[in-house]
Amino acid sequence: MSSLAGKVALVTGGNSGIGLATAREFHANGAKVVISGRDPETLERVARQLGSNVLAVHADVTRLNDIDQLMARAYETFGKLDVLFVNAGIFKGASLEEVDEAAFDEMLNANFKGAYFTVQKALPFLNESASIIFNGSVNALTGIANSSLYTANKGAVHGLARALAAELIGRGIRVNTITIGPTSTQLLTRSGSSQAILDAQDVARISRSPVKRLGRPEEVAKVALFLASDDSSFVVGAEIAADGGWLLNII
Ligand SMILES: NC(=O)c1ccc[n+]([C@@H]2O[C@H](COP(=O)([O-])OP(=O)(O)OC[C@H]3O[C@@H](n4cnc5c(N)ncnc54)[C@H](OP(=O)(O)O)[C@@H]3O)[C@@H](O)[C@H]2O)c1
Repeated sequence: MSSLAGKVALVTGGNSGIGLATAREFHANGAKVVISGRDPETLERVARQLGSNVLAVHADVTRLNDIDQLMARAYETFGKLDVLFVNAGIFKGASLEEVDEAAFDEMLNANFKGAYFTVQKALPFLNESASIIFNGSVNALTGIANSSLYTANKGAVHGLARALAAELIGRGIRVNTITIGPTSTQLLTRSGSSQAILDAQDVARISRSPVKRLGRPEEVAKVALFLASDDSSFVVGAEIAADGGWLLNII
């Protein structure tokens, strides 16, 4: 039997990159899948590609009303929620001096406020024994220059996940985090950096990586599948790295 047969899974940012690969993996393993995002075109295309038992909802996680409607539509359509992948996020690199209040708010709202209220507003619809998976980052556990906002946002996400793991396990809800290393998606290309900076970032990320390559979104999706399924029934409050060894100290 498929490991998510009969389950309903919601993936924020399910129309691109890691979220899209995870939505595909969940669907291929028997789940009914809800994907959300801001871009109507990719939402519709992904929903069409995945086929039956898929709901695509336009929802900006920085708007609490949108999150309310996302949860309501998911519940109206599928009647329950078993898996929540808190994935939507953005990256914009900048030095401390370059960050202004607007940039601060934009990143914090998308990466942390969005994650926080996604879980709060999903909670009434989550089953006992539901699985919440946070999209975390190696940035949260290391120091990477010119990424203070993103690093602080992801640090907050990791902290939130730990607190909620303790708070929600009493209801049978497991909360875990995937600590994701550099992965080949549109995250950096959408950051507004020039192609030259993007190329240099890729070279730096690959040369620092023990596996000497970027991760593929599908490799992260496999870890999300494990955390979503009952195979991980004893895994609570964990931070599982899918990072090609990025966090290792290799001597
Ligand atoms: N790629 C990496 O190296 C890496 C490493 C560690 C962690 N991560 C994390 O992985 C997550 C997914 O990123 P990705 O790498 O897959 O990049 P991506 O391809 O750019 O995907 C980002 C996703 O987030 C959605 N999103 C962004 N802001 C949103 C908002 N305000 N409301 C709703 N949806 C929003 C996007 O939807 P729209 O397209 O509709 O805007 C898109 O589906 C992020 O949280 C990122 O921080 C990535």
